[in-house]
Amino acid sequence: MNSSLILPVLRDSRAADWNDVRRLLDDAELPIDDLGPDLLERFLIAELDDEVVGLVGLEVYDTTGLLRSLVVAKKSRSSGLGKKLVGGLEAAAQAAGIRDLWLLTIDAEKFFARQGYDIVTRDAVPDSIRLSEEFTNLCPDSAFLMMKDLGGN
Ligand SMILES: CC(C)(COP(=O)(O)OP(=O)(O)OC[C@H]1O[C@@H](n2cnc3c(N)ncnc32)[C@H](O)[C@@H]1OP(=O)(O)O)[C@@H](O)C(=O)NCCC(=O)NCCS
Repeated sequence: MNSSLILPVLRDSRAADWNDVRRLLDDAELPIDDLGPDLLERFLIAELDDEVVGLVGLEVYDTTGLLRSLVVAKKSRSSGLGKKLVGGLEAAAQAAGIRDLWLLTIDAEKFFARQGYDIVTRDAVPDSIRLSEEFTNLCPDSAFLMMKDLGGN
């Protein structure tokens, strides 16, 4: 079968994914200092032919979520996988009762704007997100803060 016709599948992460997660995040120069094999509870993994080709993580703060660590392997970009990962994470966040999703990004703001995220000022951020490791230590002050209202009660 022609493998180019096989689409990546999304699945929950497991500890054994750690080496692939670290490699993809390292390649994209995204933070890994607060992650490890036992800290991938709410990560979605995109897999193609048993190879990890993308991932995204969710941190949950009551009804607020932080989307983090979105990366697609270079060879798999521009085929809709980033969009699919964000959609999958949003569905998981909604199922977990999250009403609004926040994120920090250095240079993917146009990608996230296409997925319905708005750039917001830092004084709008909830305390839970402001105190997160990514917000306080891992992302530079110059990063864009973005938010999407997922609706819900
Ligand atoms: C950002 C990233 C995840 C996008 O993944 P991707 O699989 O290439 O994106 P997709 O193919 O799903 O693109 C979805 C849409 O966004 C657009 N898009 C993708 N990357 C874009 C960018 N950097 N700027 C503007 N638009 C972009 C696509 O053209 C597509 O548009 P369409 O819906 O009109 O067709 C990928 O480039 C990446 O891993 N970057 C490095 C890590 C990073 O910056 N992560 C974000 C930090 S949280």
